Amino acid sequence: MKRTKILFVCLGNICRSPAAQTIMQKFVDEKGLQNKYEIDSAGTMGYHSGEPADGRMRAHATKRGYTITHRSRKFNAKYDFDHFDLIIGMDDNNIQALRNQTSENHHFAKIKKMTSYNKIFKESIIPDPYYGGYEGFEYVLDLLEDACKGLLTELEEL
Ligand code: 4NP
Repeated sequence: MKRTKILFVCLGNICRSPAAQTIMQKFVDEKGLQNKYEIDSAGTMGYHSGEPADGRMRAHATKRGYTITHRSRKFNAKYDFDHFDLIIGMDDNNIQALRNQTSENHHFAKIKKMTSYNKIFKESIIPDPYYGGYEGFEYVLDLLEDACKGLLTELEEL
């Protein structure tokens, strides 16, 4: 069976998108669906390439039972646009940065916004928690758990 390949994208790939990747992977694993999905994350800038996720995000995620092991990598337009089925940006800047790297309609069609999968929270973006306090990290995790549930439900209903 062909796997659905999902790439979560934020700016630095050390806070929001590696958390989204880890949460989604856990939800998929808990349902025994690991053979149906390939899940990864990337950043639109390569500033933190090779680094583990932000220590604050890892600490908050750990408290909820998520172990983030991903190492930051930059989005690679040459490979990622064709490899992944869904390329999900966390905010409008991420979406624009992705769109700027292609001119192909079939690539544009893969680009989605994370908040479009939210069911409980009515937000238009997953806010960048990097320069804020601890509440920001908790709120991002709330939003990501809600969106990942919505995304998995949508995919499994297809
Ligand atoms: P992320 O957060 O995009 O959720 O990983 C950020 C991480 C690093 C920076 C900005 C946002 N930075 O400017 O280094």
